[in-house]
Amino acid sequence: MKISIAGTGYVGLTSGVCFAAIGNEVCCYDIDEDKIQTLKQGRIPIYEPGLKELLEKNKVKFTTDVKEAIDFGDVIFIGVGTPSRADGSVNLDYVDAVAEAIGKNIQSYKVIVNKSTVPVGTAERVSNIIKKHYNGEFDVVSNPEFLREGCAVNDFLKPDRVVLGCSSEKAKNIMLETYKNMPEGCMMVTDPKSSELIKYASNTFLAFCISYVNGLVQKYPNKDVNELTKYFKEKLNKKGFFSVGIGYGGSCFPKDVREFASFCGKQNNNSEVFKEIIDINEKQKLIFLDKIEKGTVALLGLAFKPNTDDVREAPSLAMAKELLKKGCKVKACDPAATEEAKKVVSDIEYCNNAYETVKDADAVILVTEWDEFKELDLEKVKNLMKGNLFFDGKNVFDKLEEFEYYDVGRGSIKFTDEEKEQEVKAFLNRCKDFADNIKDVCSGVGANAEEVLKGMMLDGRIGRNMFP
Ligand code: UGA
Repeated sequence: MKISIAGTGYVGLTSGVCFAAIGNEVCCYDIDEDKIQTLKQGRIPIYEPGLKELLEKNKVKFTTDVKEAIDFGDVIFIGVGTPSRADGSVNLDYVDAVAEAIGKNIQSYKVIVNKSTVPVGTAERVSNIIKKHYNGEFDVVSNPEFLREGCAVNDFLKPDRVVLGCSSEKAKNIMLETYKNMPEGCMMVTDPKSSELIKYASNTFLAFCISYVNGLVQKYPNKDVNELTKYFKEKLNKKGFFSVGIGYGGSCFPKDVREFASFCGKQNNNSEVFKEIIDINEKQKLIFLDKIEKGTVALLGLAFKPNTDDVREAPSLAMAKELLKKGCKVKACDPAATEEAKKVVSDIEYCNNAYETVKDADAVILVTEWDEFKELDLEKVKNLMKGNLFFDGKNVFDKLEEFEYYDVGRGSIKFTDEEKEQEVKAFLNRCKDFADNIKDVCSGVGANAEEVLKGMMLDGRIGRNMFP
């Protein structure tokens, strides 16, 4: 197929290069001249392992000319940013602008595809905008992306699921052709509204799992919640998002949970469960800070997770801001994200590596579990530091005797077998509440609840066991 993609951020660019890799002809469009120039030179403006190599092997056209991009594709993907507004709702200005450009330039039947994360009803909204300028035939499809930063190429090429929300047979067949070379059994075709909901509900549910276990850490500070989560994984899903730590960050979970909460609130839905996810996470990011009053603090890691340069809503920055407020000196390093962090917080002393960062520090906080931090020479770290406090935000190390060492949720009191079983049951009850919420939302907006839950369960990290 001939495909055009509007937006060359994480979503648009990764999708564009991967669509070329599975046999399509691809044209990527962006308004940002610098970005397009960089891409034309074969350089990648984002940090995403494997993407550059894939671009070298596959031909992709890049342009800033919107008309050229719209003429090129039989299928046009919208992969532009959808930032949050102050009230948590989503700002669709960029999506609207692309829809308008399509409406003004389209001359024959095309399939327009929403790939950006957008609220329920956006397929209809895009369709209405196009109709204002064009009265020929076209279809709008919802095809949410499920790519994790850092392993987006692999997630695209070997997905658990590809969800297509189509309202016509014609669009469905074209979309199946576009995804022709994907692994067997991953395609799910549904209606646009259910497809739009699957994306929000999946991300919100994964964030819910993380906050659920972090909430247990907050509730039982002296208990071994970390061991309990191993039981959760064993009983429910090995790939489940049950790792305790300093909370989730990134450009997706925080924004999507807020937007979904705001959306559900407007539907008069009980959005308490969503508020709780956010509250626990905000608290969790600062879990160590009551033990640090003054001095120099070394942050190992700035990115919201390893293998990315993304610092959006990263726990590191929330910690840094709070520490600076307390009057601490903050030093930090990251293998990839330093330049991004510098754009957001300038009062940090940015260092080139971990040893430079920990030098003369009173406390060290391991924030991001990059491999190079896991392999640190801890004797050297101890000798370089002035103080002795070591906070392990991702439970990377076993208890470190040489430091005054704090981890997350590995208290000395073990849960008994009976207690573990009770905790799993309590979690499953909350999952049931979550599913009931989804059902309410679906009936409010005319989406199909069964399809939404099915789409969620196709995610290997969610699976069937959590919604028995
Ligand atoms: C997430 C989803 O995983 C993707 O499926 C989705 O497509 C993407 O958002 C999106 O909406 O575009 P991403 O934000 O790249 O992907 O990263 P994840 O690997 O999901 O991690 C998110 C956060 O959760 C990180 O801060 C991570 O450290 C944290 N996390 C993850 C935990 O704290 N505990 C866990 O058990 C798992």
